[in-house]
Amino acid sequence: MTSHPVPSLEVGGLAYAYPDGTQALFGVDLTIGRGERVALLGPNGAGKTTLVMHLNGILTAGHGSVRVAGLDVRADTMKEIRRRVGLVFQDPDDQLFMPTVREDVAFGPANLGMRGAELDRRVSEALDRVGMLDAIDRPPHHLSFGQRRRVAVATVLAMEPEILVLDEPSSNLDPAARRELAEVLRNLDVTVLMVTHDLPYALELCERSLILSGGVIAADGPTRALLTDADLLAAHRLELPYGFAVPAL
Ligand SMILES: Nc1ncnc2c1ncn2[C@@H]1O[C@H](COP(=O)(O)OP(=O)(O)OP(=O)(O)O)[C@@H](O)[C@H]1O
Ligand SMILES: [Mg+2]
Repeated sequence: MTSHPVPSLEVGGLAYAYPDGTQALFGVDLTIGRGERVALLGPNGAGKTTLVMHLNGILTAGHGSVRVAGLDVRADTMKEIRRRVGLVFQDPDDQLFMPTVREDVAFGPANLGMRGAELDRRVSEALDRVGMLDAIDRPPHHLSFGQRRRVAVATVLAMEPEILVLDEPSSNLDPAARRELAEVLRNLDVTVLMVTHDLPYALELCERSLILSGGVIAADGPTRALLTDADLLAAHRLELPYGFAVPAL
């Protein structure tokens, strides 16, 4: 019998209007297989953050369905969904609020009931994976922005999520920190969905990209094919940086 692994993420017919009536999503369909790294591209106001907020139930009022590893996102599954979906917000200061890095990274697993040596090991491993183990006893607010972004990634990795969702991970990072985060992300063995305006970053890290535009998926394919389609990019206000050419294979 052929095995059909359950996809990490399945979104079907997802539509959402904010309480003021602004319709942000008009029927989004996408599937992300286990272990895939996918970039979510699109112009300002396309609905990317709105979509991301549906993935772990911050927003739920929409029509349609969201399933994570086969589990429907619903009020009664929220606790399990929040464990499965690791959301890294654009601003690490929305994610770090404890007196030390150790406590911030321990917060999620401790909430799940983890204690003692098992918790210590989980925290150390997550910090080691992002190269921030040396900062374990430091207050997050003493760290640089790029270091805080990495700790924010560790807080999510410590939950051992099914899927890691990052909203603009490379924004406000210096070139070295941007490259170091890319190395961290490349070496993870989890499913990744990465919202970004940084098209070279998408090309470097994600074999596949989605373009969300006007609240619908306008394109879904190999990142290289999307980024070499000048008409497609122009139609969705996407631009490669000045002088950047997609390198030949
Ligand atoms: N709280 C809100 N109330 C009403 N409308 C909102 C709210 N948040 C977002 N919107 C609207 O929903 C649409 C989608 O916004 P969203 O933030 O999802 O876009 P985005 O693709 O993340 O854009 P950006 O690239 O600028 O981050 C926009 O028209 C926006 O004005
Ligand atoms: Mg956004």
